[in-house]
Amino acid sequence: MALYISDDKLAEIRNAADIVDMVSARIFLKKAGKDFAGLCPFHSEKTPSFTVSPGKQIFHCFGCGAGGDVFNFLMRYDGITFPEAVQAVARQYGVSLPEKDMSPGEKRKASEREQLFALNRRVMQFYQDIMLKSPGGEKARRYLKKRGMDRGVIERFNLGYAPEGWDNLIRFIRKSGIPLETAEKAGLIVPKKQRGYYDRFRNRIMFPITDVTGQVVAFGGRVMDDSKPKYLNSPETPVYHKGRTLYGLHAAREQCRSKGCVFIVEGYFDLLVMHQYGLKNSVATLGTALTRDHIRRLSRAAGSGDKKAYLVFDSDEAGINAAKRTIGAFLEESMEAAVVLLPKGHDPDSYLFEYGPEAFNRLAGDAPGLFSFLIDNAISVHGSGLEGKVRVISEIAPVLSEIDDSVARSVYVRHLAESLGVDEAAVLEKVREKKSKQSARKARAPEPETVGKTGQDKSGTGQAPARDRLEVQVIEMMIQNPESAVEVESENILEHFEDKQLKELGELVCRVLGQEKAGVSELLNHVRDESQRQMLASLMIEDARWKPESCAMLLSKFVKHKQRNKNNLLDQIRAAEQKNDQQLLMKLLSEKQKQAAGRK
Ligand code: UTP
Ligand code: MN
Repeated sequence: MALYISDDKLAEIRNAADIVDMVSARIFLKKAGKDFAGLCPFHSEKTPSFTVSPGKQIFHCFGCGAGGDVFNFLMRYDGITFPEAVQAVARQYGVSLPEKDMSPGEKRKASEREQLFALNRRVMQFYQDIMLKSPGGEKARRYLKKRGMDRGVIERFNLGYAPEGWDNLIRFIRKSGIPLETAEKAGLIVPKKQRGYYDRFRNRIMFPITDVTGQVVAFGGRVMDDSKPKYLNSPETPVYHKGRTLYGLHAAREQCRSKGCVFIVEGYFDLLVMHQYGLKNSVATLGTALTRDHIRRLSRAAGSGDKKAYLVFDSDEAGINAAKRTIGAFLEESMEAAVVLLPKGHDPDSYLFEYGPEAFNRLAGDAPGLFSFLIDNAISVHGSGLEGKVRVISEIAPVLSEIDDSVARSVYVRHLAESLGVDEAAVLEKVREKKSKQSARKARAPEPETVGKTGQDKSGTGQAPARDRLEVQVIEMMIQNPESAVEVESENILEHFEDKQLKELGELVCRVLGQEKAGVSELLNHVRDESQRQMLASLMIEDARWKPESCAMLLSKFVKHKQRNKNNLLDQIRAAEQKNDQQLLMKLLSEKQKQAAGRK
């Protein structure tokens, strides 16, 4: 990959940055010795194997092998490109980026996200000023007052007002010297059929939507009367993906962590009212179903302790149906899930105003687990007669068949059988039937989540390929005691490496640490290949002290071992020749060739 930012600049940005800061803005990290640990955001896990080293400024997951520096982390977590990540870090730490270092294409791409964030923030301010200061905002202020909203919450969530008219925002953007194309990309203005644009949000209360780090990624806007649509939301943009964003997560994360639980509500007002009543560990999904990605992000932000999610529903079908698909995700995250079902006709907003937070907390205290809730709900829909039971089982079986953990699955199967008073075997049969259909489907279309993301570990089991332990140790030794790189070089140790990837890595480490005398932290600068980088990060994260004697010992052991192997191979070839065992001979020869190729 071509790189348009000079190594010096990159080093400057890296030196200014703190990977612990950047990671813990997104996931909860706990101090573990001199490193930090948390739940890996790149695979499902229940105990933290994701490690961040402040000393080395790298991360590494012992579970799935993901690893690298601060840029690599952002690339994967935020789903952005390398130049975008560099730009984000530079901005965060106030390092100026000379634009000429990037090609025009890269420059455009890299700054696009930054431009969208900056624009969104200004627009948030624009809407806010209008609401708080202009006479036009009076209507919006009155509306919010009528809905019982306190000034504190209005300010905390930066609510605003998009005035009536087709071009108020357009004029503001022109005046600010921002290209209208950028505003179009941000979803703030819409191109007309002929030419020109119009404001997307008009005469609406505006809700800025932020990501977990507090950047403004999108907006929602509500009318103040009965006109349609009631809510208008930003479209998907380069910085906004509905399925990954939870409204209020930035404001809720501290409380989610300290309370160990979170309320998931559906709407903007629901969320604001939860906050107003002190239930600050709340987030909202905003008109989309809760996704697996939502759950994982929530779980990462909440930390690795016990945690519980309360799905708060008004009694409508849609939410309940969507909740079925989340059972597996909650299990994978070891997050308990319960359902707070509000009385008919109420949402959290209306319920809290009418009954108050104590009543709400009582409801939460009695909340049934998600699975029990689904069963009871299905029974109440289909009845508990013979046919009803059959329907309940066919409704719940697909949910069960998607649970990967066999122990959890059997517990649920028993639970369902007992709730219905039917034979466990009957339920199991149905689940198996579904499961075999699903695996047939899966065999044809692999799950997107596990395909080709990292280029390694496609199985998701986190097993790295078996490597020659001694070869790995040699590289580890050079990283942990850079002085030994000189000996590795002078004794031509790498010549004997049989694993090609390790050999390349060894050469790189030798060159950077031995010849260029650069620091260990520079190593990652020189790697562009994903699997090589992950391997390097996993070696860098290890801590061991190498005395000069132990270095010498390892090297002589290594040479002896390789010599023995080689002699062994030559002996075997000779023996095979004498016995005229052509098959064995071919095998041995190809092995020897492999060794030679590794040494090239
Ligand atoms: P509701 O329409 O159920 O909210 O939308 P409500 O309680 O009756 O009205 P308010 O919000 O209290 O005034 C719940 C959520 O669904 C999404 C919004 O996120 C909203 O907060 N929604 C609803 C839309 O995205 N678009 C719509 O047109 C309506
Ligand atoms: Mn409401």
